[in-house]
Amino acid sequence: MTIENEKTKLISIIPKPVRMTVTSGKFTLNNKTKILVDENCKKNGEYLKKILDPATGFNIPIEDSIKSKSEENIIILSLDSKQKTINQEDYILKITQQGINISAHASIGIFYGIQSLRQLLSEKIEAPKFVGDINWTIPCIEIRDYPRFKWRGFMLDVGRHFFGKEVIMQILDVMALLKMNVFHWHLTEDQGWRIEIKKYPKLISIGSKRKETQIGGFSSFGTDGIPHEGYYTQEDIREIISYATKRFINIIPEIEMPGHTKSALASYPELSCTGGPFEVSPLFGIHKDVYCAGKESVFNFLQDVLNEVMELFPSEIIHIGGDEVPKDRWKECTDCQNRIKNEGLKDENDLQVYFINRIAEYISSHGRRVIGWNEILHDDLEKNVIGQYWSGLKSIIREHLRNGRNFVMSNVSHLYLDYSYEAISLSKCYAFDPILRKLEEQFHQNILGIEAPMWTEWPQNSEWLYRFIFPRLIAVAETCWTPKENKNFESFKNRLESFLKRLEINGINYTKLEETI
Ligand code: ACM
Ligand code: ZN
Repeated sequence: MTIENEKTKLISIIPKPVRMTVTSGKFTLNNKTKILVDENCKKNGEYLKKILDPATGFNIPIEDSIKSKSEENIIILSLDSKQKTINQEDYILKITQQGINISAHASIGIFYGIQSLRQLLSEKIEAPKFVGDINWTIPCIEIRDYPRFKWRGFMLDVGRHFFGKEVIMQILDVMALLKMNVFHWHLTEDQGWRIEIKKYPKLISIGSKRKETQIGGFSSFGTDGIPHEGYYTQEDIREIISYATKRFINIIPEIEMPGHTKSALASYPELSCTGGPFEVSPLFGIHKDVYCAGKESVFNFLQDVLNEVMELFPSEIIHIGGDEVPKDRWKECTDCQNRIKNEGLKDENDLQVYFINRIAEYISSHGRRVIGWNEILHDDLEKNVIGQYWSGLKSIIREHLRNGRNFVMSNVSHLYLDYSYEAISLSKCYAFDPILRKLEEQFHQNILGIEAPMWTEWPQNSEWLYRFIFPRLIAVAETCWTPKENKNFESFKNRLESFLKRLEINGINYTKLEETI
C-alpha cells in the first residue's frame, strides 16, 4: 500500500469520495485567506464564507477571480464546462500548500466540493460562534468525486407528529453536508393535515388538530389525552423551499390518496363513501375510510389541492401516496360501484388504478411527473409514473423494471429509520444495496436511487426523532453516493466519529455507536 493510500485513512469525509490522493504538505486557513470566484460561483462563495467565518472569527473576503492579483492563500471556486464529465454533479477538489481549488461542471458540483472541504477541516468549523485560536490546517489532497445515484433521499412524515420549520431546516442542513438531494415531505395523514390550502380552510381549522395520540406501541390502544396540532402556512413552505434550493435539495411534497386521509375526511366528510362523520385519528395503523372513487367532487377537490401544491412546489415530481388502501368502503358504496360499471372496470383494485391514473394524467398535463408507493403498480399504470418500493414481492418489481418503469428503493427491511436499532442495526442499514439480485445490468439505470423514510408514530419531539434518524441516515447517504466497491463498514465507523461531532456541535441528537450495532 502506498503512503498516499495510508494517509487517506485519516480523511474522514462521508460519503466517501470516489478517488482521493493525499500528497505531502498542508494548507492552513488564516486571516489572510481569500475566496476567489468567477461570475457563476458567487453564491457558492457566499455560502462558503458563511461556513468559514463564524468559527474561525475571520472575515474572509470574496474577490472576482479575473480581477484579483492574489496567487497564494486562496480558495478558488470555478466552473469549467470543458472539464471531462462523468456526471453533472461531479467536482474536483485540489488542496496544495498555496491554496484550494474547487472546480466543477455546474454549481451543484462546487457545492459538493465545499461539503468535502468542510469535512477536511476540524469539526469545530461547524460552530456557530468563534471557537478560539485553532490551527485550521488541511492536508494536501486531490479529490475527484461524483455520485453513484441521482436520487439520494430522505422522507419525513409530519402527519403523525408535526415538526416545525426549524427542525426541517436543521435536517436540510445535515442532508446538504451528506450530499443528499431529495427531501420527500409526507404532508398529509389520517392523524393530521399539515399544508395550508387556501381554497379549503377546514383542512387546517379541523384537519391539522387531533384531540389525543396513541401511545405505547401498535398493540396498545392507550392514548395520552394530550391535543396535538400543527401546520405549515404557504409562506412557511416557500421559505423552506428557498432554504432547500440554496442547498441543491429538491423538495417533493406528498399528498396521500386515496387512503391515509382521515384528516381530510374529518374536514370535508362529503369526500368519503359514507358521508361520515369522522375525527382526525388519534390512532395509527390502516383506516378503512378513504376518498370515494365514485364521486366527481373528490377529483375536483384533489385537483384544486394539487393546483395549489404545484403552484407552491417547483419540483418536477409530485408524490401521491397510494399505499395501504382498504377496499371495504368502495365495495359497499353505490357511487364507487357505479364507477366500476360505467368505466368497465373489473373490481375495486381496478378502481384504484383508475383513481391513480386519473390523478397522474392531471399532474402530467401540468408538466409534472408522479411518484407513488408500490401498491399503485399495475400493468395499466401510466408508464412514466415512478414506483417507490417499500415492501412486497421483488419479482414483481423486477418485471416492472424490465418493462422500463423507474423506481426509488425504500426497502422496509433496511431503510425504515423509525424501526428500532434491534430490527435495523447501523451495520444492516449500511450493508443495503438497492440493485435487485438477478436484475440484468441494462435495467439497473431504472433504479433512480434510494430514499430512507422516517415515519413518526412515536417520536414526539426532535431529540427523539433524531435518535432514530442518526446515525442511520449517514449510512444511507454513503450508499447513495459512494461506489459499492469503495464501501467498507469499518472505514465508515472510523469516519463517523468526526461526523457525529459535527452533529453534536449543531445540537443534533443521535444514537451512540455502541447502541446501534
Ligand atoms: C408505507 O410504509 N406504508 C409506505
Ligand atoms: Zn365511494
